[in-house]
Amino acid sequence: MMKNSVRDTAWKLLDASVMRFAGAPIGTVAARDTIVQELNYDQVFTRDFAVSAYAYLLADKPDIVANFLLQMVRLQRTERQLDCFRPGEGLMPASFKVESVDGEEHLIADYGEHAIARVAPVDSGFWWLLVLKAYVRSTGDSTLAEGDEVQRAIRVLLDLSLSTRFDMFPTMLVPDGSYLIDRRMGVYGYPMDIQAHFFAALTMAQSLLVDNEENAPYIEAAHRRQEHLAYHMRTYYWLDLAQLNSIYRYEVEQYGHNAANQFNIYPETIPSWLMDWMPEKGGYFAGNLGPARMDFRYFALGNLLAVVSGLATDEQAGAIMDLLRARRDELIGDMPLKLCFPALEDRDWMLLTGMDRKNRAWSYHNGGNWPCLLWLLAAACVRTGATDILESALDSVGPRLAKDQWPEYYDGRHGRLIGREARRLQTWTIAGYLIAEQLAEDPSRLDRLGFDGQVQAAGRGVEGLV
Ligand code: GLC
Repeated sequence: MMKNSVRDTAWKLLDASVMRFAGAPIGTVAARDTIVQELNYDQVFTRDFAVSAYAYLLADKPDIVANFLLQMVRLQRTERQLDCFRPGEGLMPASFKVESVDGEEHLIADYGEHAIARVAPVDSGFWWLLVLKAYVRSTGDSTLAEGDEVQRAIRVLLDLSLSTRFDMFPTMLVPDGSYLIDRRMGVYGYPMDIQAHFFAALTMAQSLLVDNEENAPYIEAAHRRQEHLAYHMRTYYWLDLAQLNSIYRYEVEQYGHNAANQFNIYPETIPSWLMDWMPEKGGYFAGNLGPARMDFRYFALGNLLAVVSGLATDEQAGAIMDLLRARRDELIGDMPLKLCFPALEDRDWMLLTGMDRKNRAWSYHNGGNWPCLLWLLAAACVRTGATDILESALDSVGPRLAKDQWPEYYDGRHGRLIGREARRLQTWTIAGYLIAEQLAEDPSRLDRLGFDGQVQAAGRGVEGLV
């Protein structure tokens, strides 16, 4: 009974967050908090709406999703730019809002030129692809996806994400703050979260592109990149006790093809917390990997997306779920789900966040707990059959979220306190909960979100690229 009333309330709140354009629903605003200052939370954020979109698709209400998908195609940049102040070709906006001028409605989009710290979204196009795939799968209707403008949008996105620049890895090089963590948090370079997202997007793009002459080179390129990406991630990012042991005994300064320590990681950079914390059984993908740099932090978004999208092998997916079991208090906590573990403290916080007060230790992106990720936890649990984790994570979460008015995030090592600057009535918190509940009730619904299969890894690592 209690559960049903929380669910009804959540649906009412989700519906109340819908934004309309020319009379039609096109998205949901990020939050409807009337107490904390709005800033840009009154806009439709692409990544936030993806969670609402999944909730609406599972509930057989696809119209808002179709409108959003087409609107994003119109907002995608399509001109090649040599002017650094304009968004590049293929970029989709981080957010948009409706403005009325002389009684006429216009959409105003932000590609990063208005955002705090001017961060551009690498993830918007990826979310769009994921939602498009879920739309096709759950409605069974592929006419929207097969239309010329949508097919073109997919190709332009691939042009943007597959083009080579100054690096020679299958992973994608990105600036700090280019996705959910949209502030400086040391997530520049090759962050796990983005790589997993990239992998999932490549899967979706291949299956959404119609097999014709124009698309063939794109399908082929996406396929090849994905195989190399899978190999790279599964081999070099993976951490468990055995892997930690081999890094601990690495030789350094190795040159050429046979180097075991491909990235010249110094064993001294293994943080002391990890030596005790890594369980006997379990593992995860490291937060980042680049020249002489392994970020040993655990990031939930990338690891869970790896499980759901098939980037992780079945064995690795099982190990990630084992880690969540072994470190439940820290990674799931009182309010699921820890975004990143552990928090940056003291001098690390000063240097890596730029002394960002919103991101002080165990708060917000820096070790806060984000209930919007409940959907992804639920999807990973369903995919791996870890129903024990899902049940315990969902236990009493609904009534608590409702009582706390659906906060954006929680603070503290175990996520016990409502985030200091958290918005209430945060839309993706509401939608994330609704999806998790639906997946827990009927796990077969995961299929409707369109995450399929595993990909063979191409046995060609960095050495093959030298
Ligand atoms: C914050 C989050 C970002 C989210 C936005 C709207 O900036 O870091 O990921 O999209 O709020 O909820």
